[in-house]
Amino acid sequence: MTDLRSAPIGVFDSGAGGISVLKRLWALMPNEQYLYFGDSANAPYGTRPLETIRDLTVAAVEHLLDAGCKAIVLACNTATSAAAAELREAHPDVPIIGLEPALKPAALFGDHPTVVVMATPLTLREAKFQALADRFADRCELIRLPAPELVTLVEQNKMGTPELWAYLEDLFAPLDKDSIDCLVLGCTHFPFARRELRAILGSRPVFFDGAVGEAKYTAVVLESRGLRAPDNAVGAIRFESSDPEKLPLLEQLFSFDL
Ligand code: DGL
Repeated sequence: MTDLRSAPIGVFDSGAGGISVLKRLWALMPNEQYLYFGDSANAPYGTRPLETIRDLTVAAVEHLLDAGCKAIVLACNTATSAAAAELREAHPDVPIIGLEPALKPAALFGDHPTVVVMATPLTLREAKFQALADRFADRCELIRLPAPELVTLVEQNKMGTPELWAYLEDLFAPLDKDSIDCLVLGCTHFPFARRELRAILGSRPVFFDGAVGEAKYTAVVLESRGLRAPDNAVGAIRFESSDPEKLPLLEQLFSFDL
């Protein structure tokens, strides 16, 4: 009988963004096996209809389960909003860990902070985020900032290029940058533009993203279900993409200094 503890953790994103979560998982649990699947052929997800994102996410997760994964980490806020509930219902025995924009720690940071949540249009309009926003409505000044093109720019490996700078300059132009206390990176692609965002926004805003929290929570869930790899196991990562031309990008982003 195969020992489920040695099975891989499936990590899924619409494309390359989930690598920002994979890096945190690997730092925390380097003795695990990981199978990363990025659906770059269909990215970006965040501008698509809900049903399409749900179908794509379900198909990707089924693929990871068929490959023998013991748990699924949805390293994608958009896919979590669209499909986490349905996936958990369909696979009650499999831990399925999701992600949502880190609004809670940002809203609780200081006294009534101004919080900008950058995410995909789908994440910002879906019920999951609405409920979160309602919970913290009286704790902060919330500004929703959809940034769908940033996903495409990261998928195209445009970090540091004039194109990416220009996009971010335009995106923030209507906002009073000096009043932003917290910036929530509510899409796993966005940490790859952290340097440019910091340069544009200056030192004032505190940045929040959910990757470290999701990695820690994954460790807790695996531990509680007796699914952690044995301490002496040797970890490894396998990358897969629905667009084989994106495989080098996945490996390159894994070395990106976040
Ligand atoms: N990386 C995904 C997220 O965290 C979404 C990117 C996309 O639009 O495909 O929301």
